[in-house]
Amino acid sequence: MELAEKRIALGITGGIAAYKSAELVRLFVKQGASVQVAMTQAATHFVSPTTFHALSGNRVFTDPWDSNTDKGLAHINFSREADVLVVAPASANFIAKAANGIADDLLSTLTLARNRPLLLVPAMNAQMWLNPATQRNVAVLRADGVTILGPASGEQACGEIGEGRMIEPEEILEDVIAFLQPKHLIGKRVLVTAGPTFETIDPVRGITNLSSGKMGFAVARAARESGADVTLVSGPVNQPTPRGVSRIDVTTALEMHAAVLRQANDIDVFIAVAAVADYRPKVVTAHKVKKDAGSPPTIDLVQNPDILSDVVALPNPPFCVGFAAESRNLAEYAEKKRRAKKIPLIVGNLIQNGFGGDENTLTLFDDHGQTQMASAPKLHLARQLMARIAMLLKENDAAH
Ligand code: C5P
Repeated sequence: MELAEKRIALGITGGIAAYKSAELVRLFVKQGASVQVAMTQAATHFVSPTTFHALSGNRVFTDPWDSNTDKGLAHINFSREADVLVVAPASANFIAKAANGIADDLLSTLTLARNRPLLLVPAMNAQMWLNPATQRNVAVLRADGVTILGPASGEQACGEIGEGRMIEPEEILEDVIAFLQPKHLIGKRVLVTAGPTFETIDPVRGITNLSSGKMGFAVARAARESGADVTLVSGPVNQPTPRGVSRIDVTTALEMHAAVLRQANDIDVFIAVAAVADYRPKVVTAHKVKKDAGSPPTIDLVQNPDILSDVVALPNPPFCVGFAAESRNLAEYAEKKRRAKKIPLIVGNLIQNGFGGDENTLTLFDDHGQTQMASAPKLHLARQLMARIAMLLKENDAAH
């Protein structure tokens, strides 16, 4: 439940994408939010208020002269009782009104009267989006501190292809969740490694580690939610890229090493979550090794570079965080590893229930000692990790 106890005021304007807002309400509610919907008259021509009433469990406002609320001032109360006002879809007309402070119906009036953050999710024909008037209005809104989510490119209701499509409900959900997280790492550049590496033996075989990539992807998402500029270097995994994160896919430890060291001088924080293979075959066979009669083949191995240690050894290293997965003696091994790798923070993970789950049990080891985190979803642990990193960065800054 990522939106437990959150209250979302959702404005819906007239556009074909309004049908997707029904799914959006369902997603918000599923994550624990209470949702209060206001629709423009035009929006009611696309989807009935009854749909939103049923999905949100709350009465839907459509009439500026609604007298059924406290003191009859729906436009004042509406956004003030919410944590955030989201307008999805936001039509070109609505954007123009919001940019200019026009209040001629309920939704535009409550937008003007709000004292809460405004998130607009544009949806319109590509020409309307690219029209200089719309672009000007969007720039004005951004300068006023309004957050614009999307739009996406692709096929449009009118049959044309271009920019202006509303981003998908799941993407809006992820962006709203991110918006509501504390911004511990604004302006910081964070590099994360995730997943296993795969060391090629021949075209169909290789050596790898067990790693789903879930923890590393959660760390990248949490860093992005905290306001950081995030790059994720990932080994072969089956995970969706978190919104707003730039992802570089690699296969082998050598490729991961190269991708990380290319960026390592331009970052503030390096978080090494990847389960890098310690060894790789000395030679990669060009063709499939045949199962001939006789003794099984021997594979000579050579050691891979330690990516984290090489970043730590840079003349001007970023703040480095390591992970230590251990099956026993976690505190002893993790602290030893922290000192050996000369890193300020290591995250210990006691492997009890195998890999690949959505939850984890982590312990943080830094100069203050050890901090045990309660077993929780990986994303929640990753958020706590960001708070800890931000605190240690502040201490570092104060010390220098
Ligand atoms: O030495 P060990 O593999 O136990 O250390 C784990 C930590 O070091 C993790 O943060 C892992 O991502 C990082 N590491 C690395 N390159 C390697 C091996 C480990 O960056 N070749």
